[in-house]
Amino acid sequence: MTKRIGILTSGGDCAGLNAVIRAVALRAHHGHGWTTVGIERGTLGLLDRPVRARTLDPARLDAALARAGGTFLGSTNRGNPFAFPMPDGSTRDRSAEIVDGARSLDLDGLVGVGGDGSLAILRRLFVPAGIAFVGIPKTIDNDVARTERALGYGTAVAIATEALDRLHPTGLSHERVMVLEVMGRDAGHIAIAAGIAGGADVVLIPEVPWRLDRVAAHIARGRAAGRTTALVVVAEAAGQSDAPGATGDAPPRGVGEWLASLIAKTTGFEVRATVLGHVQRGAAPTAEDRLLAAALGTRAVDLLAEGRHDRMVAWWNRQVIDVPLDKIVGRSRAVDPLGTLVHTARGLGICLGDV
Ligand code: F6P
Repeated sequence: MTKRIGILTSGGDCAGLNAVIRAVALRAHHGHGWTTVGIERGTLGLLDRPVRARTLDPARLDAALARAGGTFLGSTNRGNPFAFPMPDGSTRDRSAEIVDGARSLDLDGLVGVGGDGSLAILRRLFVPAGIAFVGIPKTIDNDVARTERALGYGTAVAIATEALDRLHPTGLSHERVMVLEVMGRDAGHIAIAAGIAGGADVVLIPEVPWRLDRVAAHIARGRAAGRTTALVVVAEAAGQSDAPGATGDAPPRGVGEWLASLIAKTTGFEVRATVLGHVQRGAAPTAEDRLLAAALGTRAVDLLAEGRHDRMVAWWNRQVIDVPLDKIVGRSRAVDPLGTLVHTARGLGICLGDV
């Protein structure tokens, strides 16, 4: 009997989503003779009647799809089904409608691609309803628990590194301190990795409490030693400082500008801020992210074939493993302040603002 599986992408988009949709559909077809149905707009597509979904034709899933940014199925990071925002400002539990929508597709299994928040919601929706569900981790923030890599992270690091490559010459030309604000809602993975790869002088992440006076002293020491520019990378979530001169925490948005004005005031140097924002999400995936998409997508389908669900595929120690989804829910993976990347940054003389 031909089986039908569904796939949806949920939460903020990132590079590698199209590649993973393709991998799932190709593995389902070539490996198992199954049909794959793509559900549109994340869980929102399951609220529409008829539900918004289409059968994916493997013949049309060519290499161009693997390199395209975004998700051709669409996604949402709004509208928690358990407290869905209604036009009158109230919220309503619409989870049963979503489950009914999924049931109407007559699926034998469902693959959900999401970050920690989305995977928790998808699990809460589908597992109690008896729908065989497997998760694939994606987020540029790379903070999903129990996986070393989430889809999209490697590409985001490459983009942030390239931004530093571009900021350095203009910083040198004008003898300015260049601040780059990168994404990472709760974690500093992009900031620390790009900061090392891009040759930053200072990297500020939420996992390492920093002080403005230490940042300023480091930049001033560099100037005194003849360095005419400084590259400062700040994670969007690193907006706290107990340093004298800092006026409390950064505004919820705009940590880059906030930090730039503090550094300018404290050091007297000219400072410019760049906010990289969604540029980090929209690119063609790197080869590494395409490989990860292929490996995670293939294994996710195989898990369904083995009858093993309520699990997430993960990248660990250079291979794909799978872990129970309940080990993911409610947890996230921060940068380890004693881990390799922090140690490496310190080894290169990068200031993390704490010493
Ligand atoms: O979680 C991914 C992420 O890109 C975060 O880095 C960022 O804080 C957030 O999403 C931005 O969300 P939105 O697309 O809603 O602005």
